[in-house]
Amino acid sequence: MEKVMIFDTTLRDGEQAAGCRIGAPEKVKIAHQLASLGVDVIEAGFPCSSPEDFSAVQRIAGEVKGPVICGLSRAVAADIDACGRALEKAAKPRIHTGIGVSDIHIMGKFKPEKYGLTLEEKRRTTIDMAVAAVQRARQYTDDVEFYSEDAGRADPVFLFAILQAVIKAGATVINIPDTTGYAMPPQYGRLIRDIRENVEGAGQVIISVHCHDDLGLAVANSLAGVENGARQIEGTMNGIGERAGNAALEEIIMALRTRRDFFHLTTDINTREFYRTSRMVADALGMVIPPNKAVVGDNAFSHSSGIHVDGFLKERQTYEIMEPADVGFPESRVVLTARTGRHGVFHRFAELGVQLSEQEKEQIYERFLRVADKKKEVFDEDLIAIVNDELSLQKQTYTLLSSKVSCETGAAPRVMVRLGRGAEVLEAEGRGVGPVDAAYKAIAQAVGLTPEISRYEIQGITGGTDALGKVTVHMDHGGLKVLGKGASTDIIEASIKAYLDGLNKLAALGGL
Ligand code: KIV
Ligand code: ZN
Repeated sequence: MEKVMIFDTTLRDGEQAAGCRIGAPEKVKIAHQLASLGVDVIEAGFPCSSPEDFSAVQRIAGEVKGPVICGLSRAVAADIDACGRALEKAAKPRIHTGIGVSDIHIMGKFKPEKYGLTLEEKRRTTIDMAVAAVQRARQYTDDVEFYSEDAGRADPVFLFAILQAVIKAGATVINIPDTTGYAMPPQYGRLIRDIRENVEGAGQVIISVHCHDDLGLAVANSLAGVENGARQIEGTMNGIGERAGNAALEEIIMALRTRRDFFHLTTDINTREFYRTSRMVADALGMVIPPNKAVVGDNAFSHSSGIHVDGFLKERQTYEIMEPADVGFPESRVVLTARTGRHGVFHRFAELGVQLSEQEKEQIYERFLRVADKKKEVFDEDLIAIVNDELSLQKQTYTLLSSKVSCETGAAPRVMVRLGRGAEVLEAEGRGVGPVDAAYKAIAQAVGLTPEISRYEIQGITGGTDALGKVTVHMDHGGLKVLGKGASTDIIEASIKAYLDGLNKLAALGGL
């Protein structure tokens, strides 16, 4: 299969997203991650734009090994020289230079008379500037990419002419940006094909696609370009970039990979690094990835509606065309809502280790629906609370028959408990640093279980020394978490009741 080169411009075009800036240290860290992802080219920045960006490109050029390291410049001598200097230490340096080629750009940007009086004259100047830029860049490196800015809206005949001229001048890659995201996929695909067919020398260089997402078509346009012979794709992680952003590389690459049967193309990308890279970039920019974002959004592998969950639980492929592990995503998830259906809900209960009879399921499902109608998503904690509430009162596995507390100054407190378990009587004595500690040790010994107590809270319900004490214990046994509650005017008894309540809930959930 033929390979398509992946050109990542997260650190240059991506960073041009409104309100975003990535400092040099963060850029270096992301560049290392992009190298682990396996991109062919990292566009590290625009060296002449600021001293910080110059230093970021210089550091990346010096220390990131593997990919070609590229710097952007306008068709201006000072820009190109800054690129050349910043890339001095790169093992594989590339200078990316170019100029606006649509009439809108030419007439809008080159208004002064020095560029010519008519469109024709200004077009000629544009070609001269482009050729001079490529020739200057070639003095620094043999790898020069030329961008024909706003090619998506350019007159194709002029575009072919300028591309032909820069190839002759030494450009090795020709980039065809749809800078304003204006093109339609069949149109952009045809443009790439027409360049291959009409530009002399096009067969000797790599044609690159660089699409923006103003109409939500950046990925579709990039793929159309590749279908028509482009062999380099430019884009950013998470699709960040100017205005609506650039083409999202993770989406393009997963499309090429998932539909290999259609494209017959391959890349060197280690797709398992997508999730990590995506999160690293989002964190650096303080950006939130929309949950419904393809490939890396939180919901990309979540299933919620009854029909989907039922199908997914029976056979993953019914509703998933990619495996979460293939993009480094933690795992597929069933999100419980009022639309999830019984299969999904009880599958989750089973995963939580909660065993329920058919009769209990009826009762629990009815309560689940009432909760789900009020909430967007029902979490595991909600499921446990539902089951605690609905079932634990009916199953009193352990009851307190009596307790005796001995506290004496200078001696460790002792507590003796007598518990009922059905017809059985369980008895034990415990010593502890305080009477509650002693009581809990006594119970653990009597029942032969040691659930972990992660928190113990006591609260006076009414004022005064005769107040009712309310105790809450957070218990965890084999991953099953419950809250035990007890109240009494005797705080040791309240504590014992809370512990037994917790044990009864664990027993009701099938966790003991
Ligand atoms: O969108 C664009 O035209 C660009 C060029 C500078 C490559 O980002
Ligand atoms: Zn761009």
